Amino acid sequence: MYKILEKREIAMRNTWFKIHAPHVARKVQPGQFVIVRAFKNGERIPLTPVMWDKEEGWIVLIVFTRGKTTARMAAELGEGDGILNIAGPLGNPAEMERFGKILAIGAYTGIVEVYPIARAWQEFGNDVTTLHVTFEPMVVLKDEMEKAVGRHILETVQIDPNLDFPANMKNVTRRLTERVRELLEKEHFDLVFMVGPTGDQKEVFEVVREYGIPMEADLHPIMVDGTGMCGACRVTVGGEVRFACIDGPSFDAYKVDWEELIHRVGFYVPKERMAFEEYLRQVRGGVQ
Ligand SMILES: Cc1cc2nc3c(=O)[nH]c(=O)nc-3n(C[C@H](O)[C@H](O)[C@H](O)COP(=O)(O)OP(=O)(O)OC[C@H]3O[C@@H](n4cnc5c(N)ncnc54)[C@H](O)[C@@H]3O)c2cc1C
Ligand code: FES
Repeated sequence: MYKILEKREIAMRNTWFKIHAPHVARKVQPGQFVIVRAFKNGERIPLTPVMWDKEEGWIVLIVFTRGKTTARMAAELGEGDGILNIAGPLGNPAEMERFGKILAIGAYTGIVEVYPIARAWQEFGNDVTTLHVTFEPMVVLKDEMEKAVGRHILETVQIDPNLDFPANMKNVTRRLTERVRELLEKEHFDLVFMVGPTGDQKEVFEVVREYGIPMEADLHPIMVDGTGMCGACRVTVGGEVRFACIDGPSFDAYKVDWEELIHRVGFYVPKERMAFEEYLRQVRGGVQ
């Protein structure tokens, strides 16, 4: 059991868990993830250590309430409780190089995965700008980002109660692509990096491609074991089959077969919408 040392809701649908997990804290590097099984007979889900302390043996996970498992984690786990299993660290650490000027983008809770990487890139001597685009009540890590990188840009979108969730998400995508285009139009960047919903990653990639700037994207296919055994996280990159858990999770955006990836993750979209709309009904008293 991995004891929960701290738990708090830091923004709408975003829960902070500080967990005693010495074996992860000792080895984890920016860009890596863990596979968490929180409950007996529960499913395994990938999550990203956002902060950690090797000496004290803790890690922080920030979990976006998205479906059954993440909702159960937010509702049923409290301080002092235990998480059944945490496997990892898994995946490849982010490459630490002097790339130059980097634009690191996080859409929604994707920013929590950007944080450790952007911070390490800045410490390594890069000039890092982070861009976080999300709904206004879902802002996380603003202060931490401002301290960690050269410049943190936050763009928030109001949730319009007269629109359904997909229409609200389209507003975020529009703001995201507009802001990326504005930045690339005005400034030179040597590398763009992005974490967020696959559809948004592709939209941003289409903009970045127009400017011919190298882009890396952390991919989010379904992961089960995280060790290359189950094949669930198969993606096509450069015409070859890759497993995001052992070959990634970060890949050259120019080589990713985005259509195939969107198709594979799209199986779950109706379920995600239902979960979010149910949540909005609970907190706002109704969605038109
Ligand atoms: C490498 C990696 C790191 C991640 N880090 C974080 C993080 O730090 N914080 C965070 O909130 N989320 C993170 N995610 C996403 C997180 O794993 C999913 O939100 C979570 O699995 C949803 O589970 P659910 O049961 O609540 O939702 P469900 O209703 O089961 O699914 C909702 C959606 O979540 C995604 N999903 C569901 N199960 C999995 C799975 N086993 N593997 C991958 N995606 C899945 C699918 O897109 C699905 O459509 C990460 C994903 C990956 C691949
Ligand atoms: S999660 Fe099973 S092969 Fe990657």
